[in-house]
Amino acid sequence: MGNNGKVVLAYSGGLDTSVCIRYLQTLHKLDVITVTVDCGQHDNFKDIERKAEAIGSIKHLYIDAREEFARNYVVPSIKANGLYQGKYPLATALARPLIAAKAVEVAEKEGATAVAHGCTGKGNDQIRFDVTMRALSPNLKIIAPIRDLNLTRDLEISFAKEQNIPISLEAKKYSIDMNLWGRALEGGKIEEADFEPPEEAFEFINFQNDKAGYVEIEFDKGIPVGVDGEHIPLVDLIQYVNDKAGAHGVGIIDHIEDRVVGIKSREVYEAPAAVAIIEAHKDLEKMVLTKHELAFKQIVDSQWSWLAYSGLWQDPLRADLDRFIDATQNRVSGKVRLKMEKGSLRVVGRESEYSLYRNNLATYEAGSTFDQSLAKGFVELWGLQSVIANSLTADLSIDRKNKKEVENEIKS
Ligand code: ARG
Repeated sequence: MGNNGKVVLAYSGGLDTSVCIRYLQTLHKLDVITVTVDCGQHDNFKDIERKAEAIGSIKHLYIDAREEFARNYVVPSIKANGLYQGKYPLATALARPLIAAKAVEVAEKEGATAVAHGCTGKGNDQIRFDVTMRALSPNLKIIAPIRDLNLTRDLEISFAKEQNIPISLEAKKYSIDMNLWGRALEGGKIEEADFEPPEEAFEFINFQNDKAGYVEIEFDKGIPVGVDGEHIPLVDLIQYVNDKAGAHGVGIIDHIEDRVVGIKSREVYEAPAAVAIIEAHKDLEKMVLTKHELAFKQIVDSQWSWLAYSGLWQDPLRADLDRFIDATQNRVSGKVRLKMEKGSLRVVGRESEYSLYRNNLATYEAGSTFDQSLAKGFVELWGLQSVIANSLTADLSIDRKNKKEVENEIKS
């Protein structure tokens, strides 16, 4: 065993990566070092270690990357209002480049010649892993057994049974990926686009709570720093908002998503913190950024989300966009109050020392400093081209029979 050297496998403890350990050993004759990167998934990491070793890992490493994930991946995404296709808060997409980077780091330290991951050839995750791994260490070989062997979930399950690899009950139902920023459910019945996922499929969402609740999020330069009046560390803050918003049923996303490989997929997510924090952040930006900044930033944000989604975290354009986004965040400081009730979420208040909102300009009451007489001339110039264009097309819309008469009328 292991006469071809060592491979470092990004190991989650799930079905795909468990099957990978055995395939890497038997097919590739490699010694397998497993690495589990903690990005805030609620797993029992001792169990995962035991499982890896039972299947055949020669060395297992646990890396607590929660703080790094929050600081270097989630925060830039908050600043960019990161939502793919306007909906998906990118939880899995953000964690992949970090997990890939950790696997590469370990591979270099351990003198491995290859890195491996458990992605299929049908999803986005393979792109995120491969591109990051190649960008960071071009000489490492990348092995993706599930993709290479064209395995389906059924085949994996029967291989696992045959090899005495333990599988969880959940794995038989769905494929789940979770981290601090959200939880993705795929596979099983969820693949039927018309099937409503049962309440039990969700971990954070309370469907029974009828009461309304509030959460106030404080931002400093686009970064959430406080919640409900207290400054707390970022990871705790995200968890706190996740629990609180989830308790009011907020945070389910169910949509049809365009994968990079061309497949349309039905995706179900629960991401209470991401949904609430991005909503609050967007609202604060509206208060402090000019309409020109907002309009341009929207284009940048959607390009940023696309890069993160499509596995191009390492592309220099992402860092370029980050510099622009960071520059816009200098004034994104203040507080936003959200109301949550039976799955609904809305902003009910906001304040900022950089607010461009001026009550004395906006008010319809006495005390307004806005000089209405200036508006008349402005409105005339504003609509100038539209009015002229309409006078021409009004003529075009008259049917041909009447046209001659109208022309004569104008002449006379
Ligand atoms: N569709 C999402 C994405 O591409 C979620 C992927 C979830 N991954 C998984 N292995 N279940 O980011």
